[in-house]
Amino acid sequence: MSGGPAASLRLPEAVAELYSASTLAELVDLRRTLHADPELSLQEERTSARLQRTLDELGVDSVTRVAGTGVVGRIPGRDRKAPLVAVRGDIDALPIQEDTGLPFASRNEGVMHACGHDVHASWAVAAARLLQAEPAAGDVLLVLQPAEESGEGAAAVLATGVLDEVGAIFGAHVDLTFEVGQAMIQPGAVGAAADRFEVELRGKGAHGARPHQGLDPITGLAQVVSVLQTVVSRRVPPDQPAVVTVGAVEAGTAHNVIPGRAVLKGTMRSLDPAIRKLLADEVRHVAESVGAACRLEAEVRMLQGTPAVLNDERAAGWARDAAVPVIGADAIRPLPAANMGGEDFAFYLEQIPGCFIRVGARLPGDPVVGAHTPYFAPAEEAIFVGGALLAAAARRASAELAGTS
Ligand code: NI
Repeated sequence: MSGGPAASLRLPEAVAELYSASTLAELVDLRRTLHADPELSLQEERTSARLQRTLDELGVDSVTRVAGTGVVGRIPGRDRKAPLVAVRGDIDALPIQEDTGLPFASRNEGVMHACGHDVHASWAVAAARLLQAEPAAGDVLLVLQPAEESGEGAAAVLATGVLDEVGAIFGAHVDLTFEVGQAMIQPGAVGAAADRFEVELRGKGAHGARPHQGLDPITGLAQVVSVLQTVVSRRVPPDQPAVVTVGAVEAGTAHNVIPGRAVLKGTMRSLDPAIRKLLADEVRHVAESVGAACRLEAEVRMLQGTPAVLNDERAAGWARDAAVPVIGADAIRPLPAANMGGEDFAFYLEQIPGCFIRVGARLPGDPVVGAHTPYFAPAEEAIFVGGALLAAAARRASAELAGTS
């Protein structure tokens, strides 16, 4: 192949050997097409149509829509009666105005693939191609999942029953803290439970000049926010990662009016189910009791989100062993710190043993740019490393479950 964006890819040798030049070019083109036309959660109509067409053209079996804007397909294994394994890629985008300056930047005002799900969808297709070329022991179900960002997609896919027969599931996320060719593949917690809380403090409005005639919810809110800082520092054991963040406060209309109500909203992150419950209980206790001390009525709403991402010991071992010939043992890196981000892959892991991998997506020398920012631009090399790792993990798990390894 001469020229073209795929010609300049800097891939680990064992990864480069897996793909033909035309496959490299096709997958870069797919990724750029998806990137330029991002769609929000549960609105991924053009994205899923494009992915469905791609899988049909590749000759993937039983390609159908699932959970609205999701797509599933089946890649035949050597023994079609052997246990089923699944590979998942998410496909939705975020309400962010892109500012990367890339030639294939989003054409859709205020919508951007700022979390790399365009890469995830593409590496799922890459994995499908590799599994067609070298089939697993049993069939592999490809799951192109909608609505990861809203936290709804995985649960919706599970509810359809399409994963009922699946014995192991693998997914991955681009990660710019790791370089291309590196990956995090480990058992245990690799992502946090992400729950929300909202507190409404109700007092009594008054003239700002005569506060004694009212019950001020703003001074009460300030104290609730302050005391909430002690939930993690005073109530959670120091060896347990936990976060309580107040991200929004709303109150008042003018400098000289004491309003009747104030609202605060926040997120709680935890890795352990007992700590998850403790955070919710303590946040409620602080809001109600500090509110009461300020003579305010506190209405607390707890909104449970995605659980912690808990990689299965055996499945993580399979994924790791399978990755060694692809990227080398030295390139398999531990999480540098507890990851308090949420990910709805956690819902699959509650029901199916599996492993969620983080795939390096930064070229050496490039800056670390955070996901969910207007500048997020994972290296396209990640498509091919991610595809190779997912295909290898699926093959290994399939062989183990079929008892043929
Ligand atoms: Ni994401």
